[in-house]
Amino acid sequence: MKLENKRILITGGSSGIGYATAQNLLQRGARVAISGRRQEALTKAVEGLRSFGDVTAICADVATGEGREETLSQALAALGGLDILVNNAGGLRAGPLSQLEETDIMKMVEVNLLAPILLTRAALPALEKSGDSMVVNVSSALALVGIPFYSIYAAVKAGVAHFGESLRRELKGEGIHVMTVFPGGTDTPMMKTSNAGPELGFTLEPVEAVAEAIVAGMEEDALTVIRGGEQRQEMIALNRTDPAKLDERFAGLKDTLADAVKDHTAL
Ligand SMILES: NC(=O)c1ccc[n+]([C@@H]2O[C@H](COP(=O)([O-])OP(=O)(O)OC[C@H]3O[C@@H](n4cnc5c(N)ncnc54)[C@H](OP(=O)(O)O)[C@@H]3O)[C@@H](O)[C@H]2O)c1
Repeated sequence: MKLENKRILITGGSSGIGYATAQNLLQRGARVAISGRRQEALTKAVEGLRSFGDVTAICADVATGEGREETLSQALAALGGLDILVNNAGGLRAGPLSQLEETDIMKMVEVNLLAPILLTRAALPALEKSGDSMVVNVSSALALVGIPFYSIYAAVKAGVAHFGESLRRELKGEGIHVMTVFPGGTDTPMMKTSNAGPELGFTLEPVEAVAEAIVAGMEEDALTVIRGGEQRQEMIALNRTDPAKLDERFAGLKDTLADAVKDHTAL
């Protein structure tokens, strides 16, 4: 898809992957609306992005019905329609299932799974009207290989990935493409509270590289964008051919991993 002049809404565009993707898209001549819950972060983001092009900030919580209505109506008003919806806003809390609070489990389901589904449904009329449109869902590499202490996050990210795959086939031939992004560890504020490092197989990729890959995928009408390099590809393959081997590998890392991610939260 040619991105110049495309009208794009990026949820969670005030930080991290969303922000870097907004900058990259503005540099290609797109018009962009970014959303987030914190006005302060949005104001700072707009200051950073303004020199690259036409950007609008929307302060709303996509995890609520009211927030989604606000997000979409403000984006449509500012952009005069919608060609691309990037469902990027997300959050997590790591920890053993037995110790996760029910409220945090619900929050993870709402922001990572329900929000993309319901925002996409609400945006469909505008996307249909565009005639050449796209939905980009930001999932996670953990949707492809589940790891200990991320059971809910893995579940909801796998959910949004399969939502996207089904919808892509449902809408084939109707002018709306659906692409799913599976970032590996990426150097963003979301990862600041994780102490899992390369010794546990966790390396962080620069956010600009992930944004560049997302935008390249959009230009090529890719079905998926999978990050995390060769190491991740090997894990994905092993998870299909010999998942018990991965179980053993994680069993050996479990105690160290539990300690490293015990404070990992970004909700
Ligand atoms: N970083 C990684 O290693 C990694 C790996 C795989 C997948 N991902 C996924 O990539 C996406 C972006 O993550 P990131 O690493 O860029 O995180 P980030 O830097 O923490 O940015 C998250 C963005 O989402 C917004 N947001 C969060 N909850 C929201 C809500 N309920 N309503 C509206 N906006 C909301 C945040 O702004 P406010 O806080 O102001 O709302 C912020 O703009 C997420 O879906 C994440 O799950 C990240």
